[in-house]
Amino acid sequence: MNPFTKISQTNINQFTELIGKENVFFNSEQLNEFGHDETEDLVFPPEVALTPRNTEQVSEIMRFCFEENIPVTPIGSQTGLSGGALSIHGGVGLSMKKMNAILELDEKNLQITVEPGLITEELQNAAIEKGLFYAPDPSSKGSCSIGGNLAENAGGPRAVKYGVTKDWVLNLEVVLPNGEIIWTGANTLKNSTGYNLTQLMVGSEGTLGVITKAVLKLIPYVPNNVSMLAPFSSSIKACEAVSAIFRAGITPSAMEFMERDALDWIMKFDDSVNIKIEENTQAHLLIEIDGTNMDLIYQECEKVAEVLEQFECGEILLADNQAQKDEIWRMRRRIGEAVKSNSIYKEEDTVVPRYELPTLLAGVKEIGNKYGFKSVCYGHAGDGNLHINIIKGELTDKQWNNELPEAIREIFELTVSLGGTLSGEHGIGYVQKNYMDIAFNSVELELLKSIKNVFDPTGIMNPEKLFT
Ligand code: LAC
Ligand code: ZN
Repeated sequence: MNPFTKISQTNINQFTELIGKENVFFNSEQLNEFGHDETEDLVFPPEVALTPRNTEQVSEIMRFCFEENIPVTPIGSQTGLSGGALSIHGGVGLSMKKMNAILELDEKNLQITVEPGLITEELQNAAIEKGLFYAPDPSSKGSCSIGGNLAENAGGPRAVKYGVTKDWVLNLEVVLPNGEIIWTGANTLKNSTGYNLTQLMVGSEGTLGVITKAVLKLIPYVPNNVSMLAPFSSSIKACEAVSAIFRAGITPSAMEFMERDALDWIMKFDDSVNIKIEENTQAHLLIEIDGTNMDLIYQECEKVAEVLEQFECGEILLADNQAQKDEIWRMRRRIGEAVKSNSIYKEEDTVVPRYELPTLLAGVKEIGNKYGFKSVCYGHAGDGNLHINIIKGELTDKQWNNELPEAIREIFELTVSLGGTLSGEHGIGYVQKNYMDIAFNSVELELLKSIKNVFDPTGIMNPEKLFT
């Protein structure tokens, strides 16, 4: 049962009056376009999609929807992997794509103030032009937006050294579900003043309010890096090598794991990627070392190679020219798309303390054998973050729909038993919400729901996400 008010023609006229007809979309083709992200093949169109131009318009829309009991789903650039932007109950799809400006780049304080629709790579490039660095770099950096990155607390390869989106946020402007406009904190690097509303908003998946401005931290640009692609004849050995590198005193700026199938599929998917893979190779680690001093970078690469040898790695490809680096990283960043194009699949985003990674991987394969599914795994090994792609393959619809949820439950139970949790960077959204009881007990879950209730007492803000 849909507990909300259906959108009427009168409502559409009212929205048109508020924000202009060029920002109101209601034909079915347009609504389908606003009705998906990158999560599986799910489509939940809103009843009307709105593209506000500024905070005041967002505030007026929210106030109106609050009074009329219309659900609102914030939409970024639709690259999400947990269904956070799906308009499950229809209502308003609130696309932030036209609020995409860089409002201020403050070189004196190394800060940048942006609107949520700004594409992440454009932010990175604006910083680079001034000799500065915004490090978070989700694989979809060329198409994802800062608002979505904040909503899901996105990560990416460099998180292992530089942290995830939350570590780069100083202050947020937010429109609350009733239309009130607030700032969550201050534009300072330190802040011990009250509860941390800024960090509460980050990762809240559009369930507490709409982020309309973000003040982000920058650091001086880190100019140099070298990448190493190391093959292993055992996936487990590759995972074991990961924590050994950190224990040897090295913090790479990326430490990625890829199973063999992931590389085979990407080479089928993208002809511009052509990496020679030996017959017996089962997995690769892709390790990047960055810094300012090239000699030090090469010294660290040598140390990494010494550690990797202890885990039976094959011949390491050292990529230090731009063309090679671009090829290797294009390969890595496009794996998600390659998997998606290859088969019906479900993706889980498990994360464990990094030393437990080999145990997690072995357990996933065991669960796969028990339920009869194949999985292709890759991810941010240095963070203990494994993207598990479960492939439909030969499974019947009945197995896929009825038995797989049990298998996924087992994967999550294993993850939590290893000290980990359900999602490292994609969020819970719509597709993982049935498993929240594995990560939280009933007291903890009630606390989370109470927080939601304080911000959104009528439940109009991105309903059906995070919780059942
Ligand atoms: C990646 C996305 C799927 O790591 O998170 O490529
Ligand atoms: Zn990832």
